[in-house]
Amino acid sequence: MAISEKMQHFATKSSWIRKMFEEGARMKATFGAANVCDFSLGNPDVPPPRQFDEVMQEIVRDVSPGVHGYMPNGGYPWVREAIAGRMSVEQQVAVSHGDMLMTCGAAGGLNIVMKALLNPGDEVIMLAPYFVDYGNYIDNHGGVGKIVNTDAEFNLHLPAIEAAISAKTKAIIINSPNNPCGQIYSADALWALGELLTIAGDRFDTTIYLIADEPYRKIVFDGHEVPSVFSAYKNSIVVSSYSKDLSLPGERIGYLAVHPEIGEKAALLNALTLANRILGFINAPALMQRVVAELQDAVVDTSIYAKRKELLCKILSDVGYSFTPPKGAFYIFPKSPIADDVQFVALLLEEKILTVPGVGFGSPGHFRIAFCVGDEVIARSAAGFKRAFDKALAM
Ligand SMILES: Cc1ncc(COP(=O)(O)O)c(C=O)c1O
Repeated sequence: MAISEKMQHFATKSSWIRKMFEEGARMKATFGAANVCDFSLGNPDVPPPRQFDEVMQEIVRDVSPGVHGYMPNGGYPWVREAIAGRMSVEQQVAVSHGDMLMTCGAAGGLNIVMKALLNPGDEVIMLAPYFVDYGNYIDNHGGVGKIVNTDAEFNLHLPAIEAAISAKTKAIIINSPNNPCGQIYSADALWALGELLTIAGDRFDTTIYLIADEPYRKIVFDGHEVPSVFSAYKNSIVVSSYSKDLSLPGERIGYLAVHPEIGEKAALLNALTLANRILGFINAPALMQRVVAELQDAVVDTSIYAKRKELLCKILSDVGYSFTPPKGAFYIFPKSPIADDVQFVALLLEEKILTVPGVGFGSPGHFRIAFCVGDEVIARSAAGFKRAFDKALAM
């Protein structure tokens, strides 16, 4: 066999999202796309904001020498300065361009962080439900993912986090607003987490890093806000991208920032910059860096997602599903009406509704609905969500 044993293993247990995506493609070919309700993928369908097109048109016309050349591995300094300005407001801590790196999406940023931090066997705590690829990113760099559950409403469960920390704990990764459940961790919870990590770090004579993955920060509902992680804990690193808030996932543009007072800052920033290069990213895409620098206040029309959230919540609660309404992102993570979420997702499939079982996010007994689909798809799904629920209750 040409491919490594590890990749053979990954290929056989390929993610539930991928499986559902493939099933969706098969069903659309068989029944026609208009007859399938595909809630499986978090691929934004809301167009980028109008300013994106304007800035893009202007920037592609620039033919100055070197515009397509290599640059410092961390990205153009003026682009980082523009992002640092906005982050300073969001994080209520003065961030400068020297605290930041441009990355190939949040995924690239997370891999850089893991590469820079992890020794073989180091543990990284991930909170269930979690973004499916965290385990892979940790494993890519020799670390071990340690799963800790959140509470019944997907809030931080601090005693469980405390119990999971050991001498091998290098970092904890949080994601708020969360994929798949839409939860936003409160400022109080973040401060308490920061205190817990400080005390645990002192106990084990180490630094435990807090990695905050925030690509959904600007997609929030009902006046909710995403509190600052930098205010809560010094040894934190924020990773983000424009994949969701500008609907540019294919352009692979993101960034990361370390807290300006993070421990061993110079060495860490050197390691992160080197990791950007030696992982083969070299630097984030040049054209997109120049584009996003001009779009710090822009965001997709989040009212579209807010309306869909309302529509779906109404459909689900009318039927009797139990769920915590999302505060942000574009997912709902209801409880499966039967214990076996994979079996329930199969019942939804019979209704030509594609969702993803919670087991794929470390939280069995739930399923994820991604509402990056038109309102008409949501409206059309109502009868199927009801029939699958009734079938499940009759089992
Ligand atoms: C929570 C979370 N983190 C990271 C990513 C990766 O984002 P990017 O496309 O910016 O690499 C995603 C993508 O869906 C995500 O949902």
